[in-house]
Amino acid sequence: MNMPGFPVVRPRRLRQSAALRRLVAETQLNVSQLVLPLFARAGKKLRHEIGSMPGVFQLSPDEIVREAAAAHAAGVPAVLLFGIPDKKDIKASGAYAKNGIVQQVTRLLKKELPSLLVITDVCLCEYMEHGHCGIVHDGKILNDPSLKLLARTAASHAEAGADIVAPSDMMDGRVRAIRAELDNEGFADTPIMSYAAKFASAFYGPFREAAESTPKFGDRRSYQMDAANANEALRETALDIAEGADMVMVKPALAYLDIIHRVKQEFGLPTAAYAVSGEYAMVKAAAAKGWIDERAVTLESLLAMRRAGADILITYAAVDVAKWLR
Ligand code: PBG
Repeated sequence: MNMPGFPVVRPRRLRQSAALRRLVAETQLNVSQLVLPLFARAGKKLRHEIGSMPGVFQLSPDEIVREAAAAHAAGVPAVLLFGIPDKKDIKASGAYAKNGIVQQVTRLLKKELPSLLVITDVCLCEYMEHGHCGIVHDGKILNDPSLKLLARTAASHAEAGADIVAPSDMMDGRVRAIRAELDNEGFADTPIMSYAAKFASAFYGPFREAAESTPKFGDRRSYQMDAANANEALRETALDIAEGADMVMVKPALAYLDIIHRVKQEFGLPTAAYAVSGEYAMVKAAAAKGWIDERAVTLESLLAMRRAGADILITYAAVDVAKWLR
């Protein structure tokens, strides 16, 4: 290419004013892209703050409605629900109980705030005594027997009114199993947002305090992906799409921008980036020390996810971001 250079070309010409920079901005952050994760547990007037996630709480159903209403009023279009059950067991009964915590809260939210999208996290770890995302036998996390429970969980969420179900367990074949169960139970129109490329990540540390889902033995490396692998992330995503995923997710976000980029380029599906608990905690901690500008760092990080190709941004800072974008 025969391009003219300096002094004919001066890229700084387009950076002279805020209005000019805005005019030529290639990427936009918009409140319509935000999803706020929420943690539900039984009780009344319960707001238990997560030590490592300032501003994030375990909330009782009444408080979830308040929190969700405030988020919705700020312009956040969707929440992602996690549940902390009263009792855990070795078959994750609480995950698919008709009146489980996520099912209850979903019904309540759809009644009180019908235009707020409710996305439910479909996983077993919060409901398992051992904290793993599947059935455990002889110290192994079993794949195929776990699929039935995951499918039942997703169908019970759809039955409660969930707008989107989001499986995060990383068992092979779960999207297919969930799609089949949803279709069987009369929920052919319920979309699946699969955690398609979910890495075994140290960035989930604070979440496990929030969701009380730390594995009691071992780790999640036999089902979640190895941080070294990008080609495999594309394969995982292709499989989920073939099994019927309507949207895909990459998680964590900031340390995996290359994966977001490749997934979006390769498949073009609506792609979500999950800025996970550790990403949030690091910003909060550094900001509390006065070491970084919380607002600027948060907005820049989310913009980077958009630039990489993310359409949907799942972030614990969604409400602040919505206010900052006003
Ligand atoms: C459950 C699940 C996890 C997260 C989302 N769903 C934890 C894990 O896999 O250990 C992490 C979210 C976060 O760190 O913000 N399987």
